Amino acid sequence: MKLSNRLDNIARFIPNCKCIADIGTDHGLIPIYAVLNGICDKAIASDIKKGPLQAAKKNIEYYGLLDKIELRLGSGLEVLKLGEANVIVIAGMGGYTISNLLEAEEKIAKEAEFLILQPTQHPEALRRYLVNFGFKILDEELVKDDNKYYHIIKTSKGEEPPYKNEAIYYLGLRLIEKKHYLLREYLTFNLKKLYNVSEKLDPNTQMDRYKEVHELIKGFEDVMKCL
Ligand SMILES: C[S@@+](CC[C@H](N)C(=O)[O-])C[C@H]1O[C@@H](n2cnc3c(N)ncnc32)[C@H](O)[C@@H]1O
Repeated sequence: MKLSNRLDNIARFIPNCKCIADIGTDHGLIPIYAVLNGICDKAIASDIKKGPLQAAKKNIEYYGLLDKIELRLGSGLEVLKLGEANVIVIAGMGGYTISNLLEAEEKIAKEAEFLILQPTQHPEALRRYLVNFGFKILDEELVKDDNKYYHIIKTSKGEEPPYKNEAIYYLGLRLIEKKHYLLREYLTFNLKKLYNVSEKLDPNTQMDRYKEVHELIKGFEDVMKCL
């Protein structure tokens, strides 16, 4: 079974364990891959919508894994009992949505050994939530798939000291520390967008936004110098 680059990198972050839960599973490919490859003994695949859960069921059936992957309908972590899943995966949702799901069931989120989170947008919002609400960011990955960049965050209950500046929430401290090979390209791509935004801002009437954008530009340029 071949996964996309994004899903493959999410799967690589899952350590060997008894049970994973994939929240918002849609196609169910992550739990299927994890069980097929012996990463976990069993899995829970959940989704808020019946359609995606049906799609997952079809795929799970195809691989003959209905006895090892349990399907659950419901929102976020509310489908899980405390301590039931060693690893919780939430991928393919926005950073704010993922933060809201963790906040809604904080006890369950903190009881898991690891959480693997892949925000499609606003990774900075998710990092801010994790740093402010008692999670440690253990590792991060940056992936390019189909010409889009994706952040993958491995986290667990713990402490992460607040970051010195806003740029780090956008870029990821662990990615900066390991001078991730895609970071220069990612920074170039984002700086171009920021320079364009800045050109269109009028400092006389949009001072707050202007300052915000320029602080971010400075933060990104400083990180670029260290790579
Ligand atoms: C873009 S798909 C991502 C599928 C898969 N996780 C991936 O990364 O490829 C997002 C899925 O999350 C589901 N979803 C959205 N909000 C949810 C929630 N609150 N709880 C559970 N699933 C949710 C959607 O129904 C959809 O199937």
